[in-house]
Amino acid sequence: MKLPVFVLTSAALTLAALSALSAGIPTIQKQPFGKMPDGREVFLYTLTNASGMEVKITNYGGTIESIKVPDRDKNYADVVLGFDTLEGYTQPKNTSYFGALIGRYGNRIAKGTFQLDGKVYHIPTNDGPNTLHGGIHGFNSKLWDAKTMETPEGPSLTLHYLSKDGEEGFPGNLNVTVRYTLDKKNGLHLDYSATTDKDTVLNLTNHSYFNLSGAGNGTILKDLLTLNADNFTPVDSTLIPTGKVESVGGTPFDFRHATEVGSRINENNEQLKLGHGYDHNFVLNRKGDLTVVAAKVEDPNSGRVLEVYTDQPGVQFYTSNFLDGSVTGIGGPYNLHGALCLETQHYPDSPNHPNFPSTELRPGETFHSTTIFRFKTE
Ligand code: GLA
Repeated sequence: MKLPVFVLTSAALTLAALSALSAGIPTIQKQPFGKMPDGREVFLYTLTNASGMEVKITNYGGTIESIKVPDRDKNYADVVLGFDTLEGYTQPKNTSYFGALIGRYGNRIAKGTFQLDGKVYHIPTNDGPNTLHGGIHGFNSKLWDAKTMETPEGPSLTLHYLSKDGEEGFPGNLNVTVRYTLDKKNGLHLDYSATTDKDTVLNLTNHSYFNLSGAGNGTILKDLLTLNADNFTPVDSTLIPTGKVESVGGTPFDFRHATEVGSRINENNEQLKLGHGYDHNFVLNRKGDLTVVAAKVEDPNSGRVLEVYTDQPGVQFYTSNFLDGSVTGIGGPYNLHGALCLETQHYPDSPNHPNFPSTELRPGETFHSTTIFRFKTE
């Protein structure tokens, strides 16, 4: 059965549309969100499902700007960090990738160098000696083409970006499509696909910062986290994996049972010190299985719960170790440990580690991947 989905523009909020909203019918609303330096218009899309969950996404960086979900008393709060203006995102001091789509290669590539088909590529570095999140002008700073759609699952927004051959030093014209769909059960689906016309490397993710108590409302240190991961990939002082895959057993990286995020974060552990907290790739058990929970966050304070499902082999768990209160977004200044990220992805620096799952994409192949963020209360 097809659900009726009302596509609205801010200029024309019709009476029919308004009554659809109050009747709990899924809607997509589109409103202006500023202009790119070259004059192209940027938009903010609001996806609402029948139970009232609301997700706002801008086609600037394909960024999730806000996610409003209920707590155990049915009070709604915005549970991701973000800005209510385009300038918030483009300001030079915003180096945190709040909510953005990340590519062409999410996470780090050591010394901005990798080899593919016997050829050495040098790409711009932007994180000490390394390349982070696609380089200086990653996908997070691009304007994506956007199309709203009615699907049987719920309202959806399809974003497309063509990353030209040589962009940020990567080979191949890469056509990337990311479809966001808000389902009836408070799940936000992220479906990624990509094709190339030359051999290339690819690691796509979304960089949402979650605080289930509400953006700007305290830290995530009391959240209970479960990670379905027996192993993680330790890093060096520049956060590049050493290449080892180590057991989490007996370490502060063991989240196989629900554990307070902050209970071990200040332990005298070399990896925690190198990461300034948690900033590590966890190797997911049952890789590729979208039916198993990869990560679960429970906020005892509000009763809100986030479950993450993914077919990707890894997840970067990051405790906002670089937030220091100097950037203010929706909900107030964003402080140390004010949110956590669960970036579903391939392992960092995979092109330089033949023992890691491959991130190569070849002409004729289509890359497909799905991650679901599902919200509940307990
Ligand atoms: C990723 C990295 C972190 C940090 C953030 C953005 O999570 O692993 O080290 O760079 O992105 O601030």
